[in-house]
Amino acid sequence: MSETLFASCPPGAEPALSAELKRAGHGGHVERGGVVFSGPTGLHQWANVWLRCADRVRLQVAKVSRPEALRELDWKPYLAADAALKLEPAGDGTAEFTRAARRFWKTADQGLPVQLRMTGRECVVSLDSSGELLHFRGYRQELGKAPLRETLASAMLELSGYQPEAPLVDVMCGSGTLLIEAAWRALNKAPGRKRTFAFQRWPSFDAKAFEKLPRQLPGPVVPHLYGSDLNAGALGVARRNGKRAGVQELLVLNRVDARTACPPEEGELGLVVANLPYGIRAGEKKELEALYKALGANLGKVFSGWKFGFLLLDGEEHLQLPIAHTYPLENGGLRCRLVVGTVV
Ligand SMILES: C[S@@+](CC[C@H](N)C(=O)[O-])C[C@H]1O[C@@H](n2cnc3c(N)ncnc32)[C@H](O)[C@@H]1O
Repeated sequence: MSETLFASCPPGAEPALSAELKRAGHGGHVERGGVVFSGPTGLHQWANVWLRCADRVRLQVAKVSRPEALRELDWKPYLAADAALKLEPAGDGTAEFTRAARRFWKTADQGLPVQLRMTGRECVVSLDSSGELLHFRGYRQELGKAPLRETLASAMLELSGYQPEAPLVDVMCGSGTLLIEAAWRALNKAPGRKRTFAFQRWPSFDAKAFEKLPRQLPGPVVPHLYGSDLNAGALGVARRNGKRAGVQELLVLNRVDARTACPPEEGELGLVVANLPYGIRAGEKKELEALYKALGANLGKVFSGWKFGFLLLDGEEHLQLPIAHTYPLENGGLRCRLVVGTVV
């Protein structure tokens, strides 16, 4: 028996999600907003517990070509006898199927979310197996000024070519999300190991399999993680978030201006990252331009040979760094870009 899943991710993070699925031995194909993949029954448990870049995992319950076929769907494995479904039509062309679903199924606004989506002439019916979005890992109870979702931070690390064996420096670490996500990845700790999921309430929930699912894999690497920020308050938040994530002893945090930051270990090359300030308010553009220039100049001086990955809204030309690739990534509704390359 097998099942088909759709893992959704922050817009633009599809290549990162696809890469992490491939590394775990799952293929799949990229669609707008996520990746479709298949595997043995129960794979949704693994996907929810282990995927770092996914926001949500949906289980495909059926794919039907006629609205009448919705009548035959057996909801017993997912729904208690008296419970209802909440219809979530997605995209165009679902009207006929949605009308039929209302006729055949018990529906209510507070019901179990079920998505109807067209692929070609067929309607895919899928059930949310995650519940609360997967970026809620449990450790980030305090936010910095412009926090980065955990899933987006993991996607940034993936796309920037993070290698746990090499040092990672976040020169504007804020509340520490990039560092903590890197720590969990290096330690082979599952991002969802401390939370619960919607599938645990399904009548068909396999509690034994869920208990047996590993939350940590062998072969951890002790990562070298350095974070700095100008704001002492942000560093305090990073420290406390690190503690809640159980990785505080791995984080080296210092109050340093990114324009004068230095590599931590002589001779060793690694990855330098940051979610840069965006300068959205009027009058901030000039200041930001100067900051990007000074940051790029300092990197050129002291981080030569390091890989870089910077998330920004625009103005990457001011960094004057050799950008090898630009990934569009949405952050908090803003169309940002991740620029990656190697400092020369
Ligand atoms: C967009 S936020 C980064 C948010 C962070 N990724 C998080 O998840 O919380 C930018 C951070 O850059 C810091 N910052 C701004 N200018 C800086 C500078 N010149 N040197 C170091 N940090 C700076 C701010 O204090 C802020 O924490």
